[in-house]
Amino acid sequence: MYTEASREPLLRSQQFAAVLTAVGCARAFVQQTVRAWQLVSIRDDAVLVASELVTNAVRSTGNTDPHPDYAALARVPVIRVQLGVRDRLLLVEVWDPSTEPPVLQGQRDGAEHGRGLHIVHVVSERWGVYFPKSGGKVVWAALTATHAHPPDRLSDAALPGDDCRSAAAATLSLPTMP
Ligand SMILES: Nc1ncnc2c1ncn2[C@@H]1O[C@H](COP(=O)(O)OP(=O)(O)O)[C@@H](O)[C@H]1O
Ligand SMILES: [Mg+2]
Repeated sequence: MYTEASREPLLRSQQFAAVLTAVGCARAFVQQTVRAWQLVSIRDDAVLVASELVTNAVRSTGNTDPHPDYAALARVPVIRVQLGVRDRLLLVEVWDPSTEPPVLQGQRDGAEHGRGLHIVHVVSERWGVYFPKSGGKVVWAALTATHAHPPDRLSDAALPGDDCRSAAAATLSLPTMP
């Protein structure tokens, strides 16, 4: 339960090397954060959404080898997972360095590919993409918690800089930087 004294930061982010093991690490990060924020009713959905977005982010960098050799490791870029909460909306953002947009594919029975964004689409309230001026892109999804105990407002001190000036933040009425 939130109290003023034990208030957790309401924006949290972690960077991961863009290799497939990032998916499990990101899942653990989301699980731990959602538990800390008492958003347990959407824990599984948040973890699922983060899994799909992080898998896509890693793939977008071209690093799909589960055991990259040292030469490949030396060229691995970074991705970022950022979580924010306000008014029972949890915002999951995944940044990767590519500016290729995600493409929701047509659904075909039995198709092995093209399911990830459909899962995100079904599970989340809204999702989208924005392109920070500093480069790359952020694919985001917002989920509504039914039994959350978030505080009323994100504290200004917890807000990040320029990259937070996002379409996603505006859509969710998350405060943006001046
Ligand atoms: N972060 C991303 N960067 C670039 N392209 C992406 C990204 N996420 C998704 N896409 C594109 O959208 C397509 C659909 O993604 P998705 O529904 O997850 O299916 P799959 O990953 O199985 O192809 C991907 O094949 C890819 O072309
Ligand atoms: Mg995918």
